[in-house]
Amino acid sequence: SFELEIASTGQIVSVAKDESMLEALEDNGFFVPVSCEEGVCGTCITPLLGGEADHKDVFLNDKEKAQMDRVAVCCSRAKTPRLILDL
Ligand code: FES
Repeated sequence: SFELEIASTGQIVSVAKDESMLEALEDNGFFVPVSCEEGVCGTCITPLLGGEADHKDVFLNDKEKAQMDRVAVCCSRAKTPRLILDL
């Protein structure tokens, strides 16, 4: 499990092993637009301000993934204990 920090409010959202970032965000009242929910379409790409994502999508290319400045919240995970999202 890992945590999300919501940059605009400072709120911390915990993401359990068996849930997605998207589910954890929705459970806490943050709604990110989604479409495929499988890492293909890019609709859920959210700016990443801190931490390292474990990218699971196939939408971003390798260079974009290495930049660590956005993340597909429908399917990606975290390599660091906390990710800071620009929400
Ligand atoms: Fe399609 Fe996340 S909703 S990539």
